[in-house]
Amino acid sequence: MSLCVLEDVRKTYILGDVRVDVLRGVSLQIEPGEFTAIMGPSGSGKTTLMNILGCLDVPTQGRYILAGKDVTHMSDDELSRMRSEHIGFVFQSFHLLPYATALENVLLPTLYLERRLDGRKKRAMELLALVGLEDRAGFKPSQLSGGQQQRVAIARALMNAPRLILADEPTGALDSATAKDIMTLLSDLNAQGTTVVVVTHDPEVAGYARRIVRVRDGMVVEDRQTVSETTERRAHGAVLA
Ligand SMILES: Nc1ncnc2c1ncn2[C@@H]1O[C@H](COP(=O)(O)OP(=O)(O)OP(=O)(O)O)[C@@H](O)[C@H]1O
Ligand SMILES: [Mg+2]
Repeated sequence: MSLCVLEDVRKTYILGDVRVDVLRGVSLQIEPGEFTAIMGPSGSGKTTLMNILGCLDVPTQGRYILAGKDVTHMSDDELSRMRSEHIGFVFQSFHLLPYATALENVLLPTLYLERRLDGRKKRAMELLALVGLEDRAGFKPSQLSGGQQQRVAIARALMNAPRLILADEPTGALDSATAKDIMTLLSDLNAQGTTVVVVTHDPEVAGYARRIVRVRDGMVVEDRQTVSETTERRAHGAVLA
């Protein structure tokens, strides 16, 4: 079963007398385990598309089915449940709480859950270790580098064990070496089975993906696999050998 199915999704804003057609009939399927890059010019609708994929926004027309559930007409509460159940978000500007420590930021998605705090803390520490920041748990965002802040954000995105990670320009605020670290981390998560969708302007970042979807003027104008299955199998063989 596809993880995400967009069927002729349209998004229109009406601002006074002006009608803005931001998405103009996007049909797209994301399969479990994919690593997809969404590219396209500024203003083409990439963030709008990601917001719909992430249940932060709903289509004006068309349908969106996430993990087999039609979310098109869900209430805000239902949408937020879908988000916390299935999706981890990573943003360009990290979106960490400035007065909270790295550990507290990672714990954030579980604040409203009934689960015991020590269990959650243990998992948060494990995730901080996974992103290489176990020794920074008590640091606040202002005491961390950009790359470290983004790694905290990724740990936070993983807290609820999402099947889908949506990253909108995750390396946009980082230098190229740090960007590589972040993309390697996302690749590792993908190799372990998490589906990853990343919006990027950067061809190097897109190079980590196996599928590239190009958006222009609110429509998908190109959708291609970058690595053939045989190449991929060979690559895996090489790693295992
Ligand atoms: N809430 C809104 N109301 C009206 N128009 C909006 C709204 N949100 C987005 N738009 C318009 O939708 C278009 C696409 O915006 P979007 O943020 O999806 O672009 P993008 O492809 O992510 O661009 P960038 O690469 O610059 O981030 C823009 O023209 C923008 O002005
Ligand atoms: Mg954008």
